[in-house]
Amino acid sequence: MKTEEAAQRARTPAHIRAVGLSKSYVQRAPFSHKKFAIDALLDVQLEVSPATLTALVGESGSGKSTLARCLAMLEKPDCGEIWFEGKEISRSGSWELAWLRPKIQMIHQDSAGALNPRFTAAQVIAEPLEIQRRESGPKLRSRVCELMEEVGLPANWADRRPLELSGGQRQRLAIARAIALKPAFLILDESLSGLDLSTQAQILNLLLDLQKAHSLTYLLISHDLSLVEQVADFVAVMHQGRMVEHGAGQDIFGSPRHAHTRELLGSVRLVESAFRAAQAGGQQ
Ligand SMILES: Nc1ncnc2c1ncn2[C@@H]1O[C@H](COP(=O)(O)OP(=O)(O)OP(=O)(O)O)[C@@H](O)[C@H]1O
Ligand SMILES: [Mg+2]
Repeated sequence: MKTEEAAQRARTPAHIRAVGLSKSYVQRAPFSHKKFAIDALLDVQLEVSPATLTALVGESGSGKSTLARCLAMLEKPDCGEIWFEGKEISRSGSWELAWLRPKIQMIHQDSAGALNPRFTAAQVIAEPLEIQRRESGPKLRSRVCELMEEVGLPANWADRRPLELSGGQRQRLAIARAIALKPAFLILDESLSGLDLSTQAQILNLLLDLQKAHSLTYLLISHDLSLVEQVADFVAVMHQGRMVEHGAGQDIFGSPRHAHTRELLGSVRLVESAFRAAQAGGQQ
């Protein structure tokens, strides 16, 4: 997305907005009973515009997954606000959560761990529809087939269990389950990591097609900055629990302002050039 187009999108009301989010955890020191607090999020601000892809990057332990869990209402922040579709949701009660849960979905890296291994593919996809009482009987079966087709899984695999699928196929299954309730906002927490490059590209294309077809808003957490550079409309950079930089992808990659962003990009360029040099050496 071009910088002006990104600026235009940024002016539209945010789909989801975090204001001053903080969250700390108590951890135990190794080999001791002493406890100490870790600030996983410190006064984090983030705005994600509708139907855009924002990439959330930062070194390991910088707070990306904690922020994702807070936005998905899987954890409560200690303080701050989360606005979704114009409503403040961080202190939602069970009624509001029932309205919210289907709209915000999260897909993890390890779909094998996230999907019930005893369920068949059809049961995995049908479960949220049954819980929310959206469909039943033949309508439910045909919706499950429709979803399998949409993510590129053959309908005759409906009886396979998650562990009988490859990593890429399992990720397709996790995506079918996540979109079953027609969410508006999808959080992809390293959903492409651990897949080989060609499977990664296929799953990424599937996600981009789904985004276009359903006007989805994405928050993509990734350590792969080359991939982020290709697909992100906006990039948000975290460092030690703080949001240190947030802007259009072109601007962040073209002229990073924060020293930590420059450091992150520098290390990627270094790996890329070392890889190219190693490839050139191998070809001689
Ligand atoms: N449930 C928890 N209990 C205690 N500490 C936690 C918990 N979850 C996260 N933390 C701590 O909070 C900090 C941020 O963790 P988080 O998982 O959000 O980082 P991350 O940026 O997602 O890292 P990675 O890229 O490795 O996934 C880390 O120091 C982590 O140890
Ligand atoms: Mg994480």
